[in-house]
Amino acid sequence: MTDQDRLLAAISPIAEGRAAGLRLAEGRASLILDVTGLSGDERLKMEGAIKAVLLAQDGVSEVRVAMTSEKKGRRLIAVGSGKGGVGKSTVAANLALALKALGFRVGLVDADIYGPSQPRLMATEGQRPQAEDKKLIPIMSPHGIPMLSMGHLAKPGQAIAWRGPMAGNALGQIIDADWGDADLLIADLPPGTGDVQLSMIQKQKPAGAVIVSTPQDLALMDATRAMDLFAQAGVPIIGLVENMAGYECPHCGEVSDPFGAGGVQAAANVMGHDFLGRIPLTLAIRTASDAGQPPAAGDGAEAAAFHAIAARIAEWLNQPAH
Ligand SMILES: Nc1ncnc2c1ncn2[C@@H]1O[C@H](COP(=O)(O)OP(=O)(O)O)[C@@H](O)[C@H]1O
Ligand SMILES: [Mg+2]
Repeated sequence: MTDQDRLLAAISPIAEGRAAGLRLAEGRASLILDVTGLSGDERLKMEGAIKAVLLAQDGVSEVRVAMTSEKKGRRLIAVGSGKGGVGKSTVAANLALALKALGFRVGLVDADIYGPSQPRLMATEGQRPQAEDKKLIPIMSPHGIPMLSMGHLAKPGQAIAWRGPMAGNALGQIIDADWGDADLLIADLPPGTGDVQLSMIQKQKPAGAVIVSTPQDLALMDATRAMDLFAQAGVPIIGLVENMAGYECPHCGEVSDPFGAGGVQAAANVMGHDFLGRIPLTLAIRTASDAGQPPAAGDGAEAAAFHAIAARIAEWLNQPAH
């Protein structure tokens, strides 16, 4: 048995097939460890264990481990909510734009089978995607975001009543579309916490989830259920967003809180999740959204809240464990 085989055999139970290029020269063992997919803690633990085992071997006085990791592939971020009407789609569209502004190559996936609203929000209503080599080609929005929606796949005016398996198929086609060099897909999930949502999450395995809620108690209860759903599927929660937090009067600028305010932050604290930010209820957000001009595409006062939340998400994405 060569030294190399002996050392390799010693570490094989802990290295999970990730060690390569093992050499021993003048008492110094060196190897390359592929740590793709491991968290920071797991990397350190594996490196430590390998070093300990090698140092206990005859003829080894020093160990060097070089860690390598495959470039992260395309990551999917799910935007979810326990109930509809809380601004999930509005937040998803604006976050897609704000994350693009931060340098991510973003694609937008509208998985809302009950009310796909991204074509309206992103001004691509009525367009139909082409296919090439059996793959769908995303539609480019006027804001430079490639996107695909359940609404693009249904015939115009056709009531959308996808059943579970059909919805799963359509979403699979959208996710497997030709997204080019996009490194981040933002998915607007259907509201609710039923089987349809759970199977979508389990199948597509998002890298993380953003939960949108309004401050009312009822919406918060539903948001809690949405978080449980992601936890059940092993998907980490990036954080919570409070939407429609305070109403800014377009005439006098006075802020009132028709739905209360601060409830989402308090709920995030209780559940041990990050609070990503607050978006006020303003007439400008609604009219701009309806007109296919999400505020984050511009630099008006309304854009800042979305850009701040995107910055928090970017921070999360840039941690080695994610
Ligand atoms: N912060 C906000 N200020 C004003 N209107 C908003 C805000 N967020 C969402 N809306 C409006 O509320 C309605 C529902 O929002 P939408 O994003 O479609 O919710 P969901 O996707 O959760 O059903 C839309 O008309 C949208 O323009
Ligand atoms: Mg929606």
